[in-house]
Amino acid sequence: MNLLVINGPNLNLLGLREPDIYGKQTFSDLIDMINEVCKSEGISVTTYQSNHEGAIVDTIQEAYGKYDGIVINPGAYTHYSIAILDALKAVSIPTIEVHLSDIHSREEFRNVSITGNAALKIIYGLGFEGYKRAIIEMKEYLEGKNING
Ligand code: DQA
Repeated sequence: MNLLVINGPNLNLLGLREPDIYGKQTFSDLIDMINEVCKSEGISVTTYQSNHEGAIVDTIQEAYGKYDGIVINPGAYTHYSIAILDALKAVSIPTIEVHLSDIHSREEFRNVSITGNAALKIIYGLGFEGYKRAIIEMKEYLEGKNING
């Protein structure tokens, strides 16, 4: 199983960025955790981070035919990027969306996920644990098990 994990804008600043909301662990801690989980689950993983919408669209397009699943935290693009939504729909690779914070208990503009319209499910408010769950649930989904939307 080949998995692509995409992180969008400002997630590279984890640790520094609003630690009361996103925690004190760094982006490099997150990548280490993703690599560890994937290693122990026997998943081949590629991680990608960009602050640029078009670069994320390019990466999703290039994923076609290469990856079985995508785990994505589109950051702020979640709330307004029809381009990322369309790219995910175009390649039709099973996708789970993750957010570190509880997007439903913050500002109203974070309540809506545009990109989530292309996702099997959206996991939010669990911090790093949300990525772990997304990876394991993607594996289960690709193995033909049901996941709860
Ligand atoms: C986020 C939530 C978004 O609203 C925000 O713009 C982010 C991070 C999260 O992981 O909680 O950049 O996606």
